[in-house]
Amino acid sequence: MTLEHLKRLEGEVLNQLDAFGDTHGKLETEGVTVDPHQLLGIEINPRAAAIAELVLWIGYLQWHFRTRGQVMPPQPVLKDFHNIEQRDALLAYERMDYALDASGRAITRWDGKTMKQHPVTGEDVPDEAAQVPLERYVGARKAEWPRADFVVGNPPFIGNKRMRDMLGDGYVEALRNTVKDVPDSVDFVMYWWDHAAELTRAGSLRRFGFITTNSLRQTYNRRVLEHHLNGKPTLALAFAIPDHPWVDSADGAAVRISMAVGTQATRDGLLEVVISEGNAIDGEVSVTFEARTGWIGPDPRYQNGPCFDNFPFPATVAGQQARIRAYAEQLDAHRKRQQAAHRGSGSPPCTTCWRN
Ligand SMILES: C[S@@+](CC[C@H](N)C(=O)[O-])C[C@H]1O[C@@H](n2cnc3c(N)ncnc32)[C@H](O)[C@@H]1O
Repeated sequence: MTLEHLKRLEGEVLNQLDAFGDTHGKLETEGVTVDPHQLLGIEINPRAAAIAELVLWIGYLQWHFRTRGQVMPPQPVLKDFHNIEQRDALLAYERMDYALDASGRAITRWDGKTMKQHPVTGEDVPDEAAQVPLERYVGARKAEWPRADFVVGNPPFIGNKRMRDMLGDGYVEALRNTVKDVPDSVDFVMYWWDHAAELTRAGSLRRFGFITTNSLRQTYNRRVLEHHLNGKPTLALAFAIPDHPWVDSADGAAVRISMAVGTQATRDGLLEVVISEGNAIDGEVSVTFEARTGWIGPDPRYQNGPCFDNFPFPATVAGQQARIRAYAEQLDAHRKRQQAAHRGSGSPPCTTCWRN
């Protein structure tokens, strides 16, 4: 999707160059056209990393033949840019050992996934016989991300309570000891969020956007947002959908997600709230949004309170509507001026319908 948007943007530049009498070929030989090398990635699973790189090339070639017809792409067609790195995006370490007990035997734990049927209740319960060694991460430190202008991601959905089972005690402890400014109570995804927010506030990233579970709004995860949205320099949310239906890629389960885009400095954002959901003909979920602009706080939630229901507007007489509209515009301009003047002063913005 990102590659397609970059190619469209490039198309506009090429059209301008055409108008100035330049040719596409020159850019291609100079290696400045948009291709997968601008899209960097970090993926821990070797197969997923290879597939991600392949998908980029398929997208690139589809775009090429769609827009250039029979013209062959620059040679060699596939280049090994190594732009999708196969590694952990959160934790770097010198080596991983297995933790040993006093007699030198490996300490083990339940593998976090194998279940058996309980002999009495018949319910699925953890199968303690499925054990894996407990890891110890030596020289653990925060993983570095490659230099980039924008980061987008769909990190794994692992809630705080499942982290030890899914990732192992050794990993979770190494991560928590390494990233001290994130509370231990947060979901796994918040480590991506925190790292991207830090880079954005430091000016190394322009924007980032993540799909997360909608638990982003819950108290413990919200603390990470609050830390960055209230900090100096400040992070702002340029866009947010607080609660949206989604299908989990791991097991096809229906889940609820949030999407949020963080950006440098204080600014108004676009909040899109799902107001209705239904089944589309193609089996997808069709969603209707209500959009609002304004400062988005750590708990972006549209509150449809009864405040105006108590004071219904009387019917207007001739000419009143135009006057009301003119006053409303003046009021809106005044609100925007005041918000801009007092942003960052510590007092929450005054809006009737958003909780901040
Ligand atoms: C929800 S899937 C998203 C897959 C794909 N990026 C997409 O958007 O369709 C999460 C991905 O994160 C990867 N992942 C999990 N833990 C990771 C880590 N610590 N570092 C890097 N990638 C990780 C998983 O292997 C998985 O491919």
